[in-house]
Amino acid sequence: MTQNLADTSRPAAAPIAANAGATRDWWRDAVIYQVYPRSFADANGDGMGDLPGVRSRLPYLRDLGVDAVWLSPFYASPQADAGYDVADYRAVDPMFGSLLDADALIRDAHQLGLRIIVDLVPNHSSDQHEWFQRALRDGPASPLRDRYHFRPGKGENGELPPNDWESIFGGPAWTRSTDPDGTPGDWYLHLFAPEQPDFNWENAAVADEFRSILRFWLDMGVDGFRIDVAHGLVKAQGLPDIGGSDQLKLLGNDVMPFFDQDGVHEIYRSWRRILDEYPGQRIGVAEAWTPTVQRTANYVRPDELHQAFNFQYLGTHWDAAALREVIDVSLDSMRPVDAPTTWVLSNHDVTRHATRFGNPPGGTQIRTAGDRELGLRRARAATLLMLALPGSAYLYQGEELGLPDVTDLPDEVRQDPSFFRQAGQDGFRDGCRVPIPWSGTEAPYGFGPTAGGPSWLPQPAEWAGLSVEAQTGDPTSTLELYRSALAVRRATPALGAGSEVTWLDGPEGTLTFRRDSAEGSFVCTVNTTGEKVLVGAPGRVLLCSTGSVEVNAGEAVLEADSTVWWAV
Ligand code: GLC
Repeated sequence: MTQNLADTSRPAAAPIAANAGATRDWWRDAVIYQVYPRSFADANGDGMGDLPGVRSRLPYLRDLGVDAVWLSPFYASPQADAGYDVADYRAVDPMFGSLLDADALIRDAHQLGLRIIVDLVPNHSSDQHEWFQRALRDGPASPLRDRYHFRPGKGENGELPPNDWESIFGGPAWTRSTDPDGTPGDWYLHLFAPEQPDFNWENAAVADEFRSILRFWLDMGVDGFRIDVAHGLVKAQGLPDIGGSDQLKLLGNDVMPFFDQDGVHEIYRSWRRILDEYPGQRIGVAEAWTPTVQRTANYVRPDELHQAFNFQYLGTHWDAAALREVIDVSLDSMRPVDAPTTWVLSNHDVTRHATRFGNPPGGTQIRTAGDRELGLRRARAATLLMLALPGSAYLYQGEELGLPDVTDLPDEVRQDPSFFRQAGQDGFRDGCRVPIPWSGTEAPYGFGPTAGGPSWLPQPAEWAGLSVEAQTGDPTSTLELYRSALAVRRATPALGAGSEVTWLDGPEGTLTFRRDSAEGSFVCTVNTTGEKVLVGAPGRVLLCSTGSVEVNAGEAVLEADSTVWWAV
């Protein structure tokens, strides 16, 4: 199934550092834009986004002002979990294009000065992966079974799962296999859907295979990897029971026998050695859900990965005190390991922040539209706050358009596997995955080539007014706010540099901090209250989330739910 590039004599895409002569650590303050390929741009009109579609929109991303693009998986996959179930790690699914399209995408991106980060899914494969299929086919004695976690069941006839672990998507984390003779056989472990069997990382062939996969994509010229479920690869010895149900509630709070085990770090140390062999600063980014930011910092020690997502920040509500605390804790915990802090508000697994902030505080999975206007106002302010913090920021496609989550998708169009397993934590993730509106007045709004053509999830009618085309040139639009913010950030690197913020006094419900660097100083003021607040104007207004700010005789009126950047 593995595809080959037609012309193997071609050199890999040149790394950007070689093109641009960059020498500093580009990733320390990079703005990285997440593309969810199936929902970004559909070049062939089948209703599903694809790599040629992404490629055609690279100039848009360059003009937006981001530094790098992270692509969610586009590998050969039966799509049981939207591509996070990989059947062949070295092939592009025909639905998304071919390896030649991936190669062309990487080359074009580099030409435009954009880096490419691909998603790597090492915790589990698809149940259609050749190893798993052979392990099933060859029966209980197959040595390939040791590459996964096969175990006999408990109970008189092995009819009960080997332990009490629950799947993140709901239901037991074990499924019973059928032996070649048709009788019920051993069980296999899947922390996610049954179509996603977990690898056994104690098996040397698994570790070797992933080192080879890393090299395959590094040789293709990618600039880094986002590592899916980076905290899950190693399981506690003996796969001990947790002792109790409702385990999902413990995730992220307690140390679980299948998450954040110390053994994972040896894997990342070996990967770091590979990344460092390549020119141009190739990076690894951990998706690691751990109980504390301090434990997350372990993933980015100097000889491990470069960045880890800051999910504690993503989960913080629009509240000045809570934000200040999470910012301090985040910066404090990364300083000892000399890794940049990262900031993120949205991704393909959580309700978009424009919708979260329009609802009462309630976690990252929200099912109601809430107050749209309030949500958008806060989302714009939250983005300016994020982009003024030291470190690297992640944007999720469509947030620059102020897109809300689509909370009223009919059940019959939903595809999130955990929706069908009901008890799972994330069953409503389709709402943030609705295809992007680019232009025009008729769905799919330029997502596909033909007006009236298909899109794999339906887009709301009001999205015509939110398209890239509709927002371009409108100074009040969210798109133009993002463009301005990223342009200011690029022109004044001090905004993202370093690892310090200096908090200044301000009225209750507001945040004021100063950022100093050799190139200049900035102040960022944030009003998280629903009222106007009067503060002393700290300097000259650079940008404001509400468009303008009233300054009179040294005093500034901060609008409700707004952020202002000041040059001082
Ligand atoms: C990660 C991905 C999510 C996926 C899961 C299983 O959390 O972000 O989309 O469902 O891993 O691979």
